[in-house]
Amino acid sequence: MSLYELFTSKGVNGLGYGTTAEQATDGVSLAGKTMLVTGCNSGLGLEAMRVLALRGARVVGTARSMEKAKEACASVTGSTIPMACELADPASVRACVAEVKRQGLKLDAIIANAGIMALPKLEKAFGYELQFFTNHIGHFMLVTGLLEQLTEEGRVVMLTSSAHSMAPKGGIEFDNLSGDKDYGAWKMYGQSKMANLLFAKELARRFEGTKKTANAVHPGVIRTNLSRHMNPVANTVFGVFGSLFQKSVPQGTATEVYVAASPKAAGVTGKYWADVNVAKPRSDAEDAAVAKKLWEVSEGIVAKLA
Ligand SMILES: NC(=O)c1ccc[n+]([C@@H]2O[C@H](COP(=O)([O-])OP(=O)(O)OC[C@H]3O[C@@H](n4cnc5c(N)ncnc54)[C@H](OP(=O)(O)O)[C@@H]3O)[C@@H](O)[C@H]2O)c1
Repeated sequence: MSLYELFTSKGVNGLGYGTTAEQATDGVSLAGKTMLVTGCNSGLGLEAMRVLALRGARVVGTARSMEKAKEACASVTGSTIPMACELADPASVRACVAEVKRQGLKLDAIIANAGIMALPKLEKAFGYELQFFTNHIGHFMLVTGLLEQLTEEGRVVMLTSSAHSMAPKGGIEFDNLSGDKDYGAWKMYGQSKMANLLFAKELARRFEGTKKTANAVHPGVIRTNLSRHMNPVANTVFGVFGSLFQKSVPQGTATEVYVAASPKAAGVTGKYWADVNVAKPRSDAEDAAVAKKLWEVSEGIVAKLA
């Protein structure tokens, strides 16, 4: 496929690679809806919050600190509620869940958007590799903690990545969740994004018989703060050559807001999305047994966290 074909390709809904978040929600009124976005202070999360608020939603914007959340919320027009949620700190995640409940907020969508990528050296939280812990366990705690706050047709949107294809064979190295046995920056990022995908899959299965949905979204390749941990040479090369094929932030945010908010995505569940359309992930991302095992292992991890 040529670059021109890539940039102009569209799916069955007439939307595709070049669609922006505003275009993906064109004509959609979110008045009366409440949606939570994690990582609201940067990149795709900030754009998602801006566009959802623009369409009339009240947006709960979470960031690692209340200060960051407040600053981000103040930067967009519309109704927002800032909250702190440091995903690598279980006490902070629990406090966020408690605050949503205390305020009696019913959520029409949760966009689990925050994330870190390609940490050059092994870092850990509570004995677990930090990308797995932040991207998966933190969001596992948050989303499962908020399930009873979801509205009848509530949607859960997990940010995954095409980099889930870099995950180890089989999807998750259950015997190496600490990263001690073998660490690779991209392998572990890939594993954490595979975990986001498998979580959406298993959540969709648990939602069967309800109108709630769970999906996973690859936003595209977009230059944001996400690349800050990459080694400087790779980051520069990525910046220069990547600009040939990267999406803009508004384009990169289109798929997550479409899946969270568009009437056209209503009822679609358990899917992997890219370029604002349903796509195909690596085959083991569809393995229901691995998804179930990951859920059970994650429950066990969370149960032991102080
Ligand atoms: N950009 C891409 O090309 C790309 C491609 C595929 C998938 N994605 C996915 O898209 C999502 C958004 O990424 P982005 O490109 O918008 O990156 P970004 O600009 O770096 O934003 C990431 C957000 O996550 C937050 N975050 C990081 N660690 C956190 C923690 N421990 N607790 C709470 N929040 C934390 C960051 O907060 P701070 O600013 O305070 O660090 C920031 O708000 C990520 O899940 C990423 O994996 C992005």
